[in-house]
Amino acid sequence: MTERYIPDDEQVNTGINIQWFPGHMAKTRRIISEHLKEVDIVAEIVDARIPVSSRNPVINELLEGKKRIILLNKSDLSDDKINREWQEHFATLNIPTILLSCDTGKGIKEFTDKVRFMLRDKLQRDAQRGMKKSLRVMIVGVPNVGKSTFINRIAGEKKTKTEDRPGVTRNKQWIRLSDGIDLLDTPGILWPKFEDQQVALNLAFTGAVKDDIYDYEAVAATLCKRLSEVYSKEFCARYKLDTPQLILDTDNPLAVIGKKRGFLMSGGEIDTERAARMILDEFRGGKIGKITLERPI
Ligand code: GTP
Repeated sequence: MTERYIPDDEQVNTGINIQWFPGHMAKTRRIISEHLKEVDIVAEIVDARIPVSSRNPVINELLEGKKRIILLNKSDLSDDKINREWQEHFATLNIPTILLSCDTGKGIKEFTDKVRFMLRDKLQRDAQRGMKKSLRVMIVGVPNVGKSTFINRIAGEKKTKTEDRPGVTRNKQWIRLSDGIDLLDTPGILWPKFEDQQVALNLAFTGAVKDDIYDYEAVAATLCKRLSEVYSKEFCARYKLDTPQLILDTDNPLAVIGKKRGFLMSGGEIDTERAARMILDEFRGGKIGKITLERPI
């Protein structure tokens, strides 16, 4: 699978430089394999807008042989057509998926139904033995994909702390649902592949990394170029641009948009920082449109 939406000349120094050390890898592998023994199935949450970048690079290897399901979360923000493409893609790999939105609640009920269906043999065996054991599901995902929000939603009450800041969830915990399912929340054990610049950019666009560790304006300007290329209709409509060339042909897209919005500082200079914040906020909030930055081919 590759990312189709990346212009060849997209070069930006994001300043994101968090390395995926072999030590991290070894620790992740150890913690996952310890947890795997305790559960019947693994639910991996990814961000539907960036289903490649928001996955741990070695997750397939780590979960090999275990029943699993992928939850494409934040599907309220992602492109409906490409959502379906991702579902078809994972289906060809024999990995069931659910389109989830922890914001609207879409997919929550489907999740428990699907887990029960996938573990029907175990349920039947347990029933034959007169046992009534809970189904145990491990929840994994890189920071900010919505693990805490998902658990809060499904548990129907505030059980974990959520915040739009990566790395907030801390300790492993079991959460018992009313319908015979136990969730194991495993925060902080999976990391995306930061050292790949395209992955780092996608994580920065979507707000999955802290804003203060990268060049905010460079990232916003790159997002403008990317969206003018692949979601030009939506982008131009939002910022009242007659043509995407206004962005594609300039070295300073933030100045173009800042000027349109009247973001002027004293002395008449355009406030490009304000434009950058607005564009990133609007993209992350879905105001530009339902947008997916990676698609399967
Ligand atoms: P860490 O604690 O960093 O591991 O993050 P996490 O994976 O637990 O993510 P969390 O639940 O804290 O969610 C991160 C942000 O995404 C929060 O601002 C949530 O409100 C938001 N969020 C989660 N799910 C959805 C969703 O389906 N749609 C939208 N629009 N926002 C969501």
